[in-house]
Amino acid sequence: MHILMVCLGNICRSPLAEGIVRHLADAENLDWTIASAGTGDWHVGQPADKRSIAIAKTYGYDISKQRAQHFNSKMLEDFDLILVMDKSNLRNVLNLAKDAEQRKKVRLFLTDDLEVTDPYFDDLLFDPVFKIIENRAKQLIEELKSE
Ligand code: 4NP
Repeated sequence: MHILMVCLGNICRSPLAEGIVRHLADAENLDWTIASAGTGDWHVGQPADKRSIAIAKTYGYDISKQRAQHFNSKMLEDFDLILVMDKSNLRNVLNLAKDAEQRKKVRLFLTDDLEVTDPYFDDLLFDPVFKIIENRAKQLIEELKSE
């Protein structure tokens, strides 16, 4: 299973989703490839936002070695599942999909049509955003490991 997490900058939300899902999948000996990317290219090559690195560390995850990359259309071929944080990401990713098979791979990370709020402009959002992502990550592992 190759899973790509996508947000806007690839420094706050999707690096958390990448690091948490990878950690949980590894703990279950699942041979998955987890990556993340941003629909914007401003932070390419940079580590995650220091607030994301810090909140992950607080809860026992190390995301400090991950580096931001820019989402591109080849990722729609290379990954089985592309999980996006909000509806703007969804539109941007779907715009690059070339057929129904690729569109089918793209979903919101959360269930029930919910979005992961962008915490970039509010330090206080990093803790709740972490918890929302971690909860959903645990659910995802259960959902996907039987596939
Ligand atoms: P992310 O948050 O999409 O969760 O990584 C953002 C990070 C950076 C910017 C916007 C959102 N930015 O405008 O640079």
